[in-house]
Amino acid sequence: MQQHLKIEKDDEAADVRDYLALQEQKTLLRFLTCGSVDDGKSTLIGRLLYDTRLIFEDQLSALERDSRRHGTTGDDIDFALLVDGLEAEREQGITIDVAYRFFATPKRKFVVADTPGHEQYTRNMATGASTADAAVVLVDARQGVLRQTRRHTIIVSLLGIRHVVLAVNKIDLVEFDRATFERIAAEYRAFAEGLGFRTIMPIPLSARYGDNVTQPSERMDWYEGPALLGYLESLPLDDEAKERPFRFPIQYVNRPDLDFRGFAGTVASGSVSRGDPVVIAKSGKASRVSRIVAYGGDLERATEGQAVTLLLEDDIEASRGNMLVAPDARPQVADQFTADIVWFDEHALLPGRSYLLRTETDQANATVTELKYRIEINSLAHEAAKSLEMNEVGVCNLSLQAPIAFDAFAENRATGSFVLIDRRTNATVGAGMILHGLRRAENIHWQALDVDRAARAALKLQRPAVLWFTGLSGSGKSTIANLLEKKLHAAGRHTYILDGDNVRHGLNRDLGFTEEDRVENIRRVAEVARLMADAGLIVLVSFISPFRAERQMARELMKEGEFVEIFVDTPFEECARRDPKGLYKRALGGEIKNFTGVDSPYEAPEGAEIHLRTEGRAPEEMVEAVEEWLSGHGLDDGR
Ligand code: ADX
Repeated sequence: MQQHLKIEKDDEAADVRDYLALQEQKTLLRFLTCGSVDDGKSTLIGRLLYDTRLIFEDQLSALERDSRRHGTTGDDIDFALLVDGLEAEREQGITIDVAYRFFATPKRKFVVADTPGHEQYTRNMATGASTADAAVVLVDARQGVLRQTRRHTIIVSLLGIRHVVLAVNKIDLVEFDRATFERIAAEYRAFAEGLGFRTIMPIPLSARYGDNVTQPSERMDWYEGPALLGYLESLPLDDEAKERPFRFPIQYVNRPDLDFRGFAGTVASGSVSRGDPVVIAKSGKASRVSRIVAYGGDLERATEGQAVTLLLEDDIEASRGNMLVAPDARPQVADQFTADIVWFDEHALLPGRSYLLRTETDQANATVTELKYRIEINSLAHEAAKSLEMNEVGVCNLSLQAPIAFDAFAENRATGSFVLIDRRTNATVGAGMILHGLRRAENIHWQALDVDRAARAALKLQRPAVLWFTGLSGSGKSTIANLLEKKLHAAGRHTYILDGDNVRHGLNRDLGFTEEDRVENIRRVAEVARLMADAGLIVLVSFISPFRAERQMARELMKEGEFVEIFVDTPFEECARRDPKGLYKRALGGEIKNFTGVDSPYEAPEGAEIHLRTEGRAPEEMVEAVEEWLSGHGLDDGR
């Protein structure tokens, strides 16, 4: 969630810098605009930029030319072109999807986050909103409040924005009708009232003709409120005065030589002075700030937003992702918490699936352990749900593989937010706002046991391993695993088979074959396999396990080198021909739903340790191939 202040052109940067210097004393209001594609968002931003005269002369004449050529507004300037023209820049591989535009009035300066209004809109909106003070939600006066309007408003409120303006645009197209405006305003207020906004301000306007944008309109004498710009100029910035506790997420440890160890990063909130006491959030170790090194030299004090390197009086350990914080107002440190989640991805959020959770500087593998509810967009009701689909919003419990330091989002947006990343595609798939840590995590600790895994394995004279067979139903997983176990057993190994069909009769009998249930099926069996490996056993797991993400999760649960993925590769046609349980016939006949290979996907392994192509080969041959691999990797010795 980085901030890019976009200056329109390089050669004008110097002018802009002079200009910015003049602006420094004024307060800054950050806002974002949201609306559907045709609501006139670009036109509105263009109008604001134009009327506040930050557009340079040459851009202006180019614009007049372009409008005449491509415009849709006759002889008037098409303001949408002004903003959309920059889209090309975004397409040249620059990864920002959000452009930040700057303008100013004699009273205040503004940064507006302009987010493209296509499908991925929610994702960009969440990015653009991370530091915004206000949101301008656009609706078309002819259409009024839409589902999309409600969705955006909910997200805006979750993102911590406390001021919302409802811009009822295209009021000219409803003949500046008072009743239409009042009906829309009332409907919106009724909806938004429960969302915790400090101010909700409906304004009737026409972005295209400028009515009530920067100047009060003369065509709506019934309207007595302010124009949009005047309102934004006067909006109180409530949080500015309140000093928040010192938070300094460590970006990296700067250690050019043995005498210098500095913690580099940006002050996320509060301030710190030389000599101040600080603690390392995760370890609780205390010290004092001995130096504050900045680009131009040492400082006495660093405040929110400043990038500095902090040196401490004592030589204490802390690495990237940890935080230096005020000793008397510490963040929480936990590996379980409750959070609001906004989901962006086409592929639904599934409880039990492992995602990469990333905060400003820290990261950890995370799973949703419980989806508490989904928020219904129209009524704001809490609904039970098994997954979160694209653009849905819900409240979840999350569990991390390692603790992180955080604050509740309501107290600190920077240290209370995170994104979730799909570990296979590296795409950002969700944004989260932490509500609170979970007590239960505080009260459950690892019990140190005297007989450890090494001792247990040694007594069995073997190295524990998890041999994970994956493949279609009927591919031969169970047959091969069964034969292999017989041979291992005969050789004196301590083994156990976890087989899909069998485990589904007991531990997992509550699970079916939806995507959600399969994720949970594999999560449980992976945990059980881990316990068994910990007990010193060689565990043979025979599950379809169709998804790469869960197999990867299982792999990461085990000790390095202990997880052996075995792809039992039998083509679908061959499995369907064999059809040992008659299931393919029924699935192809439509009697069984969500059948792997028919109407539920199988994601073949890409980096399996062992790849068995079974067609035309006997199971014994396959078993020999596995044994050979195991002995080649030292997994068959009696140690
Ligand atoms: S997994 O996908 O969640 O890993 P698992 O290995 O536990 O599946 O169970 C697969 C077994 O359940 C199959 O071998 C088959 O006997 C049976 N089964 C019943 N319905 C289905 C279905 N819809 N898809 C796949 N297997 C099914």
